[in-house]
Amino acid sequence: MSSPRDEAVEPGSDTVGPSTSSSSQSDATGGSIISVTIGATVPTGFEHTAAEEVKEKIGVDARISKDRGRIYFPITTDKLYQVHLLRSVDNLFVVVEEYDHYQFKESKEETLTELQQLASKLPWTDTLEVWKLNRTLKKKKGHRKGGNAAKVKPNSDASDAVAADAEQHELPQVSSTAEDQTTVESVPDLETCEQDSQEAAPEAKVIKFRVTCNRAGDKHSFSSNEAARDFGGAVQEFFQWKADMTKFDIEVLLNIHNEEVVIGIALTEESLHRRNISHFGPTTLRSTLCYGMLRLCKPQESDIILDPMCGTGAIPLEGAIEFNSSFYIAGDNNDMAVNRTVNNICHFQKRRADKGSPSGLPIDTVRWDLCSLPIRTSSVDIIITDMPFGKRMGSKKKNWDLYPSCLREMARVCRPSSGKAVLLTQDKKCFSKAISRMGGLWRKLHTVWVNVGGLHAGVYLLKRTAAVFGQTPEDVHESRGMVEMQGDKKDDQEVS
Ligand SMILES: C[S@@+](CC[C@H](N)C(=O)[O-])C[C@H]1O[C@@H](n2cnc3c(N)ncnc32)[C@H](O)[C@@H]1O
Repeated sequence: MSSPRDEAVEPGSDTVGPSTSSSSQSDATGGSIISVTIGATVPTGFEHTAAEEVKEKIGVDARISKDRGRIYFPITTDKLYQVHLLRSVDNLFVVVEEYDHYQFKESKEETLTELQQLASKLPWTDTLEVWKLNRTLKKKKGHRKGGNAAKVKPNSDASDAVAADAEQHELPQVSSTAEDQTTVESVPDLETCEQDSQEAAPEAKVIKFRVTCNRAGDKHSFSSNEAARDFGGAVQEFFQWKADMTKFDIEVLLNIHNEEVVIGIALTEESLHRRNISHFGPTTLRSTLCYGMLRLCKPQESDIILDPMCGTGAIPLEGAIEFNSSFYIAGDNNDMAVNRTVNNICHFQKRRADKGSPSGLPIDTVRWDLCSLPIRTSSVDIIITDMPFGKRMGSKKKNWDLYPSCLREMARVCRPSSGKAVLLTQDKKCFSKAISRMGGLWRKLHTVWVNVGGLHAGVYLLKRTAAVFGQTPEDVHESRGMVEMQGDKKDDQEVS
């Protein structure tokens, strides 16, 4: 267990903390290089994939937290910009302090008092330096004006996965709305701060902050709201910052998972999973999850990759951006879905063109019925798709017909022996039955269990076997067999 260090910064009303650091080297912005720990939230189930990406792109080992959906890794601040280029992370923060086994006091009052005392004992200096550096690195995206309420609300399949017993609360505003509005006018937003960061000292402005407490575990005597309120009050007093829930410059994170406590400062204003999509649909998949699925099938140069149920095109678009030596075909039988995919591709290309980057993407879009694809037999290398779960999209009943039909058609177009499929579904029972009735055309290699909008789903990596399509009796009688099995309650053994 780590313990609070006595190197807390001097409080002050007009600074974010003194500019001390441990090294004489400088980073790209001329500041000293500091070593810190970065925390990242990632799609649950894909923690190892994220750790692999960190190793590959930043060259350091990441630690996977007990708290599923989080990884931690060390960096020096000259690598900070690379952290923002990671594709498998949703939100980033810099760790102020972490405790593996925090001994919470018995009573609520004692625990909250201790949390208040903690605020002034934490080693804030380096992390606040990183926050400042991060602010100058960030693209001018604009401040989160209007706060969370103004954000595009994704559908449930795309929304943040929160453990059933987890609570998430923000520090309630200390001052009245009228006072806050007055303060908003007198305090420049983050974008303005970025613009004048080279000019007059932006540190001279009053810093606005909020505390967000993410708590999971049932043995706590306090709520996350109480923890955020009391810890936040102490932070406010220590730094003389101003609390503001919506128009804040700094977001302090208090992550509590059973006995693990991590205090951090957020480095992202909004989850990086929204990066590609401008036209959302009812079941848009997070780009970070799409990236994890794509990595599972390891796209190779000149592979033909199909998403036959593309919805808004989140998977093939991520593929065309990140694994761009393959070619992607995105199809759907719904006109609105196809239009959204086209719009998302066009919007992304325009954004690129506006920045002067090459705008072409290796992707095409088509309206089709997956059960009868206009594609030659054995011509596709990888099929990667997010199937209707039968909750928001389609129905469980229809899946008993749809799954065998589409698995068979996918097996027809996919190359025997080398072809692969990565399929996401929450309708695990129907999926497993359908696979087992495919006459050996598909073999399950691996399953990653993920949380999609609070639903426990499987990402199945399948290999197309050498079996010749159309030669097994199961191919012929597949649909009938599946319909007959609907009443069968016995679950298949999952291979993972
Ligand atoms: C879960 S959604 C895919 C969401 C997508 N991954 C995204 O990020 O937006 C499933 C999609 O399958 C499509 N679909 C259902 N049956 C189909 C069929 N027979 N042929 C083609 N598409 C189909 C639906 O229209 C829907 O867009």
